[in-house]
Amino acid sequence: MTVRERIKATLQAQPRKWLVTGAAGFIGSALVEELLQLNQEVVGMDNFITGRRINLEDVRRLVGPERWGRFRFVEADLRDLEACKSLCSGVDYVLHQAALGSVPRSLDDPIATNQANVDGFVHMLLAARDGGVRRFVYAASSSTYGDEPALPKVEDRIGRPLSPYAVTKYVNELYADVFSRVYGMETMGLRYFNVFGRRQDPQGAYAAVIPRWIETLQRGEQPVINGDGTTSRDFCYVDNAVQANLLAALAERAEALNTVYNVACGRRTSLNDLFLTIRRRLGEYFPELNRIEARYGPFRKGDVLHSLADIGKAERLLGYAPEFSSDEGLKITVDWFVQAARG
Ligand SMILES: NC(=O)c1ccc[n+]([C@@H]2O[C@H](COP(=O)([O-])OP(=O)(O)OC[C@H]3O[C@@H](n4cnc5c(N)ncnc54)[C@H](O)[C@@H]3O)[C@@H](O)[C@H]2O)c1
Repeated sequence: MTVRERIKATLQAQPRKWLVTGAAGFIGSALVEELLQLNQEVVGMDNFITGRRINLEDVRRLVGPERWGRFRFVEADLRDLEACKSLCSGVDYVLHQAALGSVPRSLDDPIATNQANVDGFVHMLLAARDGGVRRFVYAASSSTYGDEPALPKVEDRIGRPLSPYAVTKYVNELYADVFSRVYGMETMGLRYFNVFGRRQDPQGAYAAVIPRWIETLQRGEQPVINGDGTTSRDFCYVDNAVQANLLAALAERAEALNTVYNVACGRRTSLNDLFLTIRRRLGEYFPELNRIEARYGPFRKGDVLHSLADIGKAERLLGYAPEFSSDEGLKITVDWFVQAARG
């Protein structure tokens, strides 16, 4: 039995009610899609600051009318405590994804990042506590490793944060830990490493590298590599992150609870190699793109040079087994963007 089949059997035997915050975003919409495919009852919330209505439309089309009928969407803001409280009523599991992502955005506007990621996080924790939610699973971040040089990254060895965004994500872990110890809440933090896949937003100054490069190449333009291209990341296809969320929600062993996990593939890819893979995949559709070379720009402030996860803890305590390698994920993602551009 695969991990997905095991999760499916557990959830279908006893459907639960889930709250997904950031439901119109990239990872949130993937969670909503999978939970609805598994016949769960789902409440989604978002304020559309970076999330998009077309993401929810895409999920609606994929899951069909019957499953979509088990979904309720509420447009609300994390900064509104009363709204957070009313969302948690009757919910078994919260999968808290809503936040302002992006290191550069946090350097430009640390207050906005703090309000969504810290004030909003505490609101959701309080709402989950008062609503009697069974477990609070939240999106943490590999940025918490900061300037810790050792590779691979192991959960209990972190450095100093390199950006306001990284501070907020570390503060989330501190709050979750305190709420577990002081109020007896069950919290699980998932330190995502560069997650990518369908529906990730390619637009704007703060777009993530993979959708941005796919779109730039699709326009026939040259992507910009920040630095000399040897910078490396542990790129993780979004369905692996979805798997980690469901495993974290369902974990039963006491030693698996109230802690944080790396969520990644445990392999690293340089930006130079990433560019070549994306160009080759797109080149299968549009051979003329194989002639486009990347341009090199300055290294970005606040970024870490190398990132690679040790995923042993998640494997051991959650049974995490990433189903897609980054290459497989890239193929699916490029195919998806090509189809999306064709409409
Ligand atoms: N994508 C990655 O590689 C990655 C890596 C590490 C951590 N994360 C974390 O994962 C989570 C999801 O990220 P994503 O990549 O899907 O980004 P995303 O921007 O697509 O999704 C975030 C969602 O949260 C919503 N949101 C933001 N502020 C809000 C507020 N105040 N009230 C209500 N909704 C609000 C946005 O509208 C958006 O839909 C975030 O917490 C992010 O920090 C992502």
